[in-house]
Amino acid sequence: MSKEILLLSGPNLDQLGTRSPEIYGTQTLQEHVDRFSEQANAHGFSVRHLQSNFEGDLIEAVHDARGIAVAIVLNAGALTHSSWALADALGAFQGVKVEVHLSNPAAREPFRHVSTLAVVVDGTIAGFGATSYDLALEAVRLLLVAG
Ligand code: DQA
Repeated sequence: MSKEILLLSGPNLDQLGTRSPEIYGTQTLQEHVDRFSEQANAHGFSVRHLQSNFEGDLIEAVHDARGIAVAIVLNAGALTHSSWALADALGAFQGVKVEVHLSNPAAREPFRHVSTLAVVVDGTIAGFGATSYDLALEAVRLLLVAG
């Protein structure tokens, strides 16, 4: 049975493609997900993706992944900067956790400089556009091999 990666996309990421393309690029979320899934499949992972504009949906997806997924890769959108509840949910997930951003929040407005999730994830990949997702998959692979 293939190992599952839960790929989570937070608020407003469903608007990628037309949302601030000068910051986030012109690729749609579906294109990012397809590319991530293809590469993950080639490495023997299955991918379950959820996008939601609602914090509780994302929290419940993290709960449901416990004991099922080996890793969570998440772009929590602006919830990254505000959600202690999502951080708590992730804290209870035992597998690998990688935070990912298309842009580099540290180089943007001050409110984006804080991540509530940083303390509970293995690491963060930010600022590489679509390549951030490729690097996140690579991080998952390396972290799982490292045990
Ligand atoms: C983002 C960065 C966040 O600050 C922002 O709220 C997003 C997208 C990114 O991928 O660069 O929605 O997570």
